Amino acid sequence: MKFYIETVGCQMNTLDSELAAAELITAGWERLESRKDADLVIFNTCSVREHAEEKIYSALGRLKHWKTQKPGSLIAVMGCMAQKDKEIVFQRAPYVDVVLGPGKIDQLVALVSAAAATGLQQLAVGIDRFAGKTDRREVMDSFRLYDPKRLTQTRPHVFQAMVRIMFGCDKFCSYCVVPSVRGPEQSRSPKEILDEVKALAAQGCVEVTLIGQTVNSYRYTEGGKTTRLADLLEMVDSVEGIRRVRFVSSYPTDMTDELLQAVRDLPSAMPYIHVPAQHGANSMLKRMRRRYTVEEYRDLVDRIYSTIPGAAITSDFIVGFCGETEEEFQQTVDLVRYARFKNSFIFKYSERPGNEAAKKWEDDVPEEVKKRRNNELLAVQNEISAEWNRSFVGQETEILVEGPSKRESRGIAQEETLYAECEQTDPVADSGAPISTSVEELISSAKNSGLVQMTGRTPCDRIVVFNGTRDLAGTFQRVKIVEAAPFTLFGTLVEQ
Ligand code: SAH
Ligand code: SF4
Ligand code: F3S
Repeated sequence: MKFYIETVGCQMNTLDSELAAAELITAGWERLESRKDADLVIFNTCSVREHAEEKIYSALGRLKHWKTQKPGSLIAVMGCMAQKDKEIVFQRAPYVDVVLGPGKIDQLVALVSAAAATGLQQLAVGIDRFAGKTDRREVMDSFRLYDPKRLTQTRPHVFQAMVRIMFGCDKFCSYCVVPSVRGPEQSRSPKEILDEVKALAAQGCVEVTLIGQTVNSYRYTEGGKTTRLADLLEMVDSVEGIRRVRFVSSYPTDMTDELLQAVRDLPSAMPYIHVPAQHGANSMLKRMRRRYTVEEYRDLVDRIYSTIPGAAITSDFIVGFCGETEEEFQQTVDLVRYARFKNSFIFKYSERPGNEAAKKWEDDVPEEVKKRRNNELLAVQNEISAEWNRSFVGQETEILVEGPSKRESRGIAQEETLYAECEQTDPVADSGAPISTSVEELISSAKNSGLVQMTGRTPCDRIVVFNGTRDLAGTFQRVKIVEAAPFTLFGTLVEQ
């Protein structure tokens, strides 16, 4: 039996897809890279914006025909939209066989088997956070998920892995769906996390990314001792074989000096901080229920740059939130200019029914205005990204080689971005950014000499394209940066 998984959404979903694949492979299934010959097609879904959901429902619509032509084939919908829509998925797409919430991956194999055996639709989701006076512990348990099976073959690269350190979110930003679809915030025990990191290192993993919706809010108390993210970083740093650690995504008010100092001092902690600001105007931050002011965010930016040498900061922004005026939007532009982010993920506000923003304020910024603001902010950000990149020309740096660039490996699924579904240009190697003639020359000289265009990442998570051989994947190399495009650096290998 063969399965195919299609993933949208954030790093949580990327990891969940990996774990779901591991469950199926352990049960004897084979994973395919396309759905053509699959017996089971799984959609791992995102609800953060309406557009992400509509794309899934239309993809499901297209599969209806596929399913009638392939008797016995199955369709499963997992992830955040499964949790949010529950039975509605069956109503909108009656040929779906399994609906599985984010905390229920361990039940995937059983439910798929049950659907195959009985022909009946199967549903497993967490307890609705807002369903009456449910006990918080009960709700937490219904989302609880241990991340046990890490098979090397289900990761894009053996040498890189994500490790979940916490589930859910308790911040309740007014626009956001995540606290209701991912359940209450809960941190995994340091022992569980450390065991997983050790197991990954034993598999040959050299780089881990610790993930959580508000990863720096991590807090685990046992026997009177509280472990925070800074402590975890220190523990992971001591694991033999792990040379790089990053963590995403951070919440601005939980960024303690201890944490920044840990990033500065620990050899494995990389100088890369993803700490979404969301907006640059206090009026909007307040309405968004973010718990800081823009002044505090600017202070945080100053603290990061002054504590961590060579730090790269990245952010997320929402444009066109309820009532956003042109002046307020310009304050976001000002913040981007001030913070000089490495890159920003920019999203047009999308109303999510049922949450605070949808109940209280009108989604009143017209779509064209949202689009224009999105493009304007992106243009400002791209210029800053390009300036940063130009500043690296002539410098030497160490990269972890990932593999052939997308241009070289068309057709092979590669997870290159923080958000698998982002409606804008992401910093990928072949983003269509203008590349100069000297780069074209570099590429063609690679072709002539039998080399391929490879990519790697710097400590601050910038992508470097260089000419090399495929066997360098997974190794650390020194490169000299010779050219820069807005989203990509071009380098040459430095002889060692
Ligand atoms: N936990 C992360 C963000 C997870 S959601 C954090 O708080 O930093 C990823 C991003 O999607 C958010 O940072 C936000 O910029 C965007 N987003 C969330 N809800 C949205 C909505 N209703 N409309 C548009 N963008 C949204
Ligand atoms: Fe959503 Fe806010 Fe939680 Fe991030 S911190 S997941 S934006 S509620
Ligand atoms: Fe989307 Fe769920 Fe992540 S809603 S952004 S996949 S937590």
